Amino acid sequence: MEFIWKTLSYTPYLLSLLFFLIFLEQISYLKKKRHIPGPTFVLPFIGNAISLVRDPTKFWDLQSSYAKSTSGGFSANYIVGRFILFIRSTNLSHKIFSNVRPDAFHLVGHPFGKKLFGEHNLIYMFGQDHKDLRRRIAPNFTPKALSTYISIQQIIILEHLKSWVHLSSSTPMDPIPLRFLCRDMNLETSQEVIVGPYLSKESRQRFNKDYNFFNVGLMKLPIDFPGFAFRNARLAVLRLVQTLSTCAEESKSRINAGYEPVCLIDFWMQENLREIAAAKHAGDEDPPHSSSKEIGGHLFDFLFAAQDASTSSLLWAVTLLDSHPEVLARVREEVAEVWTPDSDTSITTDQLREMRYTEAVAREVVRFRAPATMVPHIAGENFQLTEDYTIPKGTIVFPSVFESSFQGFVEPDRFDPDRFMEERQEDRVYKKNFLAFGAGAHQCVGQRYAINHLVLFIALFTSLIDFKRHRTDGCDDIAYVPTICPKDDCKVFLSTRCRRFPSLS
Ligand code: HEM
Ligand SMILES: *[C@@H]1O[C@H](CO)[C@@H](O)[C@H](O)[C@H]1NC(C)=O
Repeated sequence: MEFIWKTLSYTPYLLSLLFFLIFLEQISYLKKKRHIPGPTFVLPFIGNAISLVRDPTKFWDLQSSYAKSTSGGFSANYIVGRFILFIRSTNLSHKIFSNVRPDAFHLVGHPFGKKLFGEHNLIYMFGQDHKDLRRRIAPNFTPKALSTYISIQQIIILEHLKSWVHLSSSTPMDPIPLRFLCRDMNLETSQEVIVGPYLSKESRQRFNKDYNFFNVGLMKLPIDFPGFAFRNARLAVLRLVQTLSTCAEESKSRINAGYEPVCLIDFWMQENLREIAAAKHAGDEDPPHSSSKEIGGHLFDFLFAAQDASTSSLLWAVTLLDSHPEVLARVREEVAEVWTPDSDTSITTDQLREMRYTEAVAREVVRFRAPATMVPHIAGENFQLTEDYTIPKGTIVFPSVFESSFQGFVEPDRFDPDRFMEERQEDRVYKKNFLAFGAGAHQCVGQRYAINHLVLFIALFTSLIDFKRHRTDGCDDIAYVPTICPKDDCKVFLSTRCRRFPSLS
């Protein structure tokens, strides 16, 4: 009893201490924010986390209108103890992308990424080390390599389209949501393209199970104890990397035995073996980034990087083609001139290049609905952004590539694939505003592959399938998952359009 009275008598002190802390936090926010537009008062501790979690679209829209309200082109906010900056100005976004280095900006990728997939991820590397690795992975995306991948991509896309139509016709009254179907298709495609021939049937099953643990853990709090989703994900990543390292070993032996490369890891190992041999010849030790263990880790990064953004782009392609029937008709016409399902052959690289309009549609989809709307970076040191504003160390900066897509460009609010055709070449003219794949040293390595994938998907989907979107209120609104996707997960009715599906071997 006495204890309670004693405690109660402290209450006024405790309360004033609490108010004092809240006051300090508010002051610290305002000191960092200075004259930058943004909310003046923020809730203690959590800041504006609730509105961000409840309705991210509204949160970022508001942040954007703050940024528009002054000429500076950026705005501030506060989320769970973190000062953040939203950047709308394309020029300033370039300033972030071109200053990724230890004493300036570091890519964030995922809030607990370092714990989940390790510190050695490509996105956390800097300077010469990063440049070296990028040079070493360049052989994976040469025209020859990409051309090998397109046949693999088509086989998997076809298989999945067939099963989607089947699914849709077995429930003719219910539309099917494409989001997870697209994701599964992409996972299988990238798995097949990256290490396909080296996964046995059983290691493939374990691989898929582990990859699923990883995906579940991505969305959970980082509680690293047995039985928690995060721990399961972390352990699954270790096993996946181990499996991928083994694939790299097997690829090395196969290439050493004189076989031609048939998947991504082969193209990489071909170059890798050459470098190792050259180093040995010169009496040096193995070049950096050449161990199978390290390569397994990077293969995992590819797999992860290839997943969500690409899925997002496919879903928006379906959505936008549905809402722009004149674009759809032109795509179908163009594809039919170049390739027909009756041929029972896959689309060749040359045919793919002939589909100029379809490729323009793919680029316009990525511009109009940039899958990763923002590319968060953390400021490792204070950084002078403009003449009169210095970003404080620890700030999370969000350059908005989505906003840049709607600047420059002729009538940017229109979905207009013609802008990327020969006559207008807006990809060249407004290159600076096309930031959907990032910019600078870390610009997306998979962009050519991603565009090929999108073009192949659009070509096959539109020529083999008749589709109709199940339209509901707000179904095309943007949902953050956290790449963007149509709010209803892209619900469609599907039926076969061609006489029969081609059988590719
Ligand atoms: C439409 C699909 C895609 C979009 C919109 C996209 C977008 C991006 C963006 C915005 C970045 C950060 C760039 C920067 O910091 O400047 C990035 C990095 C990266 N992307 Fe993509 N990406 C896509 C597909 C892919 C695919 C299919 C792959 C793999 C084959 C891939 C592999 C990577 C890798 C490895 C990085 C890290 C590069 C580095 O840190 O050096 N991406 N991507
Ligand atoms: C962006 O920078 C370029 C030069 O790099 C300049 O010509 C242009 O006026 C700037 N745009 C804005 C909106 O400040």
